[in-house]
Amino acid sequence: MKKIILALTLLALPGLGLAAGGEGYPLQVAPIDLHNKASLQKGAKLFVNYCMGCHSLEHQRYNRLARDIGLTDDQVKEHLIFTGAKVGELMKNSMPKADAKQWFGVPPPDLTLIARSRGVDYLYTYLQTFYLDPTRPFGVNNAAFPNAGMPHVLWELQGWQKPVYEVHKGKGKDSPDTKVLTGFELVQPGSMSPPEYKEAMADLVNFLAYVAEPIQLERQRIGIWVVLFLFLASVVFYLLKKEYWKDIH
Ligand code: HEC
Repeated sequence: MKKIILALTLLALPGLGLAAGGEGYPLQVAPIDLHNKASLQKGAKLFVNYCMGCHSLEHQRYNRLARDIGLTDDQVKEHLIFTGAKVGELMKNSMPKADAKQWFGVPPPDLTLIARSRGVDYLYTYLQTFYLDPTRPFGVNNAAFPNAGMPHVLWELQGWQKPVYEVHKGKGKDSPDTKVLTGFELVQPGSMSPPEYKEAMADLVNFLAYVAEPIQLERQRIGIWVVLFLFLASVVFYLLKKEYWKDIH
């Protein structure tokens, strides 16, 4: 009996973990599709235009990126390199870390591995949930990352949104009312409509997912050959087996 209880408790543990994490703003599921080259290209373009001023991709080379997302070196030079780097170089930026720390309080982290360390759903939600908050240094807060030190750099595209709260009544003096962030209201539209912005963020997160594990695309390509090889090998082994047993019977 004790063993059964222990087993049930262990089974329930992951669920408990989720329940404990359920306090914050709910994450949206990012529609990742690493085979969608058009989406990866759009994501790359957004990244170099809006993010690379502050964030680097220190483990990614431009020409590797070009090959993987279906661009030529010349296209990359023309559309993606603004720093004067050569196509064979790593995607670094020139912002000095010490200055960045002074400007933002925290230096902007390198984003090569962010999709793996934080998860794509977190990134997708983070990029969509900057909201007006006059108490913060840059006038914005974030639902996925409360008190984030990053300004809302995509405001021209998304516009500005203000938070919508739901008030949960407290039960008297010891438990006062609590405010729960439930959504947003667009108070100043950007150059993109809300669905367009959502799609652009899907592209950007798709790109970051690729950057975090460029080998993924290759692995899937190799995977198909491995399966094919195993299939052919089993046909050969089957025929061999028949050949051997023929003499024994
Ligand atoms: C003006 C500079 C600046 C620009 C441009 C910028 N960021 Fe940031 N970003 C920051 C700073 C500063 C932080 C550190 C925030 C903190 O830890 O409080 C940060 C943090 C982040 C994080 C980490 C959040 C976490 O959970 O640790 C992500 C992800 C991110 N930025 C994505 C982006 C993307 C995507 C873009 C382009 C659309 C972008 N940033 C553009 C300054 C910038």
